[in-house]
Amino acid sequence: MKIREKLRIRFNRLTFGALNFVEGRIHGASINLFSDEFNQNPHAQFKALRETDPLHYSMAIRAWWATGFELVQEVLRDPRFGTDLRKFEKRAKKIRRRLDAQRLERFENPSMLGLDPPDHSRIRRLVTHGFMHRFIASLEPRIAQIVTHCLDRVGNQQEFDVIDVLAKPLPAIVIAEMMGLPESDHAQFQAWSEDLIAGSGGGDVAAAERAEHSSNALIDYFRSIIEQRRANPGDDLIGQLILAEEEGDTLNAQELYNTCLLLLVAGHETTTRLIGNGLYALLEAPDQFEHLKAHPELIPNAVEEMLRYEPPVIATQRFALEDMEFHGKQLKRGDAVIVSIAAGNRDPAANDQPDRFDITRAKVNQVSFGYGVHLCIGASLARLEAKVAFEHLLERFPDMTLTNQRPKWVANPFFRGFDHLRVVSGSTAA
Ligand code: HEM
Repeated sequence: MKIREKLRIRFNRLTFGALNFVEGRIHGASINLFSDEFNQNPHAQFKALRETDPLHYSMAIRAWWATGFELVQEVLRDPRFGTDLRKFEKRAKKIRRRLDAQRLERFENPSMLGLDPPDHSRIRRLVTHGFMHRFIASLEPRIAQIVTHCLDRVGNQQEFDVIDVLAKPLPAIVIAEMMGLPESDHAQFQAWSEDLIAGSGGGDVAAAERAEHSSNALIDYFRSIIEQRRANPGDDLIGQLILAEEEGDTLNAQELYNTCLLLLVAGHETTTRLIGNGLYALLEAPDQFEHLKAHPELIPNAVEEMLRYEPPVIATQRFALEDMEFHGKQLKRGDAVIVSIAAGNRDPAANDQPDRFDITRAKVNQVSFGYGVHLCIGASLARLEAKVAFEHLLERFPDMTLTNQRPKWVANPFFRGFDHLRVVSGSTAA
């Protein structure tokens, strides 16, 4: 990263802090995305904003915050909001100026997450074939083997890091196998994916550089794999994407490797965070942990509650595609809206006693996989991986507790979780 870029980040943080302070004074509530207090516990700030002004314009980030459950759903399903940044000339020009050739190529050819209908609908339809619920469910025995193998590595250690041992490798191995990547490439593939996770936390400039390098390496890797596979696609996920066809329409080469990278990026860090955040919530509530051990059939419900209570993706964003009046506020074309999933999930209008972690909730209302046209494609897979992970963790380490050293939340405006989560257990993994 160039020195200019580093200075820009530092300058933004300083001005951000100052504006935030002023904003808090004026409105009685504001969110300081870059404060450690926010990273460690954003829920109090979200609650204050939701109660004072659920659709709030922040001078600090020059964007709107949407913090109510209904409001989050409304923004995500309203076609007057989109994600394709290329549509906003001024903003796009500014972005283009900052990008090197590779990043520019990615900006000009967004994955489906950065496209609006109808471009989005076309690609999504073709990709969804590979994520049929029935196909995902059939992966359960293999996921169980991978979890077993990961946990075997604990051996006789009484203290271990659940993120390193299980939460990080599991989604990378699962997606590598689903894509049919050669076994000999798995270690390299996993290393690249872990770099992507490490670099997404913001703050650490060296990690961000490594992430950039790994994401370029992954694109080159997918490009060559797809070229090799065209002649003989096979029946794995990459083969299905190559063969996916509807009414004569197929994915072109760029769309194919963009989609592969998206599936990896969208599915890896999020699932890692779900296992880490969920286990933390469970171990912080010993009564719930005991109840779950006595009733392991509640694990799928517990996973929903984990998703709601400490979502891996705390926010996403949309841009107003036109000038409009929305909930009594005037939005201008190009305005950004930070759609706060974490705040929506804890709206008392959607869930009773939202600040209580309760694995027995009759109905968990959450928007942790998003909502509307971009609703997560990998939700069934993530739920399945988490279910199997918790089944095995509870069975093999029933006396597990957190260590005395408190884990540190790592957050950026969009993701929140742990890089390390150390636990102690008297039971050995064998
Ligand atoms: C706990 C795990 C996961 C969480 C919390 C999560 C969350 C999300 C959210 C919030 C969105 C919507 C983003 C937006 O509207 O801006 C999304 C979209 C998406 N997710 Fe996931 N996700 C998870 C796992 C996965 C997995 C395992 C995969 C695939 C391997 C995946 C693939 C995708 C894709 C492709 C999209 C874009 C869909 C579109 O643009 O139509 N996700 N995810």
